Amino acid sequence: MKAAVTTKAGVPEVIEIKEVSRPEVKPGWVLIKVKAFGLNRSEIFTRRGESPGVEFPRIQGIECVGIIEEDPSGTYIKGQQVAAIMGGMGRFFDGGYAEYALVPFDIIFPFESNLTWDILGAIPEMFQTVSGSLNQALEIESGETLLIRGGTSSIGMLACQLAKTKGLTVISTTRNPDKKQALFENGADHVVIDAGNVKEQVKDIFPNGVNKVLELIGTRTLKDSLKCIAPKGMVCMTGILGNEWTMKEFTPMGDIPSLGRLTIYMGESKNLSKELLQEFIDEVERGTIKLNIDRVFSLDQVAEAHQYMEDNKAKGKIVVEVG
Ligand SMILES: NC(=O)c1ccc[n+]([C@@H]2O[C@H](COP(=O)([O-])OP(=O)(O)OC[C@H]3O[C@@H](n4cnc5c(N)ncnc54)[C@H](OP(=O)(O)O)[C@@H]3O)[C@@H](O)[C@H]2O)c1
Repeated sequence: MKAAVTTKAGVPEVIEIKEVSRPEVKPGWVLIKVKAFGLNRSEIFTRRGESPGVEFPRIQGIECVGIIEEDPSGTYIKGQQVAAIMGGMGRFFDGGYAEYALVPFDIIFPFESNLTWDILGAIPEMFQTVSGSLNQALEIESGETLLIRGGTSSIGMLACQLAKTKGLTVISTTRNPDKKQALFENGADHVVIDAGNVKEQVKDIFPNGVNKVLELIGTRTLKDSLKCIAPKGMVCMTGILGNEWTMKEFTPMGDIPSLGRLTIYMGESKNLSKELLQEFIDEVERGTIKLNIDRVFSLDQVAEAHQYMEDNKAKGKIVVEVG
């Protein structure tokens, strides 16, 4: 089969298109004929050799969509549409950047849809992250106010749409005033330009602060986000767009307001269910949710797609369609 193999840690060009053996099915695992996959920022860190425990060469890809080729358990018939996410995929065993992927049975989610594969490819990890952050971590409720820090990211755009569907008032941020209109068109009630500190602007809109913050920039803006919350408000750090993993100084009794809450979300396949995924796919099919897909690459172009993601050129999800 054809695969995009990360031959060693390094720049995007270390990802080479190769002919490799198709994986053999084994008990507890399922062989998927891959149709498409979304690219994820964590795959840049893995490619650079910054994901602990990952050895090269490795076929990366923490998610994919496709059809069942072989399921030794007999649960799924050949041709069943499925998604697979996480569980070590593309890190500790070969992942989605290939014509076929062999993955553990328990990270498979069956679904039915008439959507095209490029659209389906954008969904699993993006939806799992947004749904998990908003519902499981932040426990959003109708009537609440939500600040989305990093609002123009694909996660941020989908989070705004899901929060609006649930009846929240949303402030989305961007560093770039040219993207303001796109955030309003995506459903944001307020847009704030983020030059590093937004507390004053948020308090101008909601003097008591916001109930919830989805922090996608990360450690760089976390302290300021904590200053934006109302009493008993909560900040969930899900993203690290600012590229800084560690804070030089953090004083819990000082940086977290009294009674304020700070959590993080690191999604796994167990945070998703086949019912939730199917419901979401149906909403996309009905047109109630509009996915922001920036560009669709082919399997031959994975290195180019990595460079495009690293250069921050995308205004939405990057998808690779296979075959
Ligand atoms: N925790 C989890 O389970 C999980 C799962 C998936 C993804 N994530 C994380 O979620 C975040 C969003 O992912 P994504 O794929 O949706 O991102 P994305 O679409 O690639 O985000 C692009 C946006 O990020 C902003 N940005 C880029 N570099 C920045 C910087 N240095 N400082 C501030 N903003 C910057 C830009 O916004 P402006 O130019 O408009 O300011 C740009 O529009 C990432 O950190 C990703 O790793 C977490």
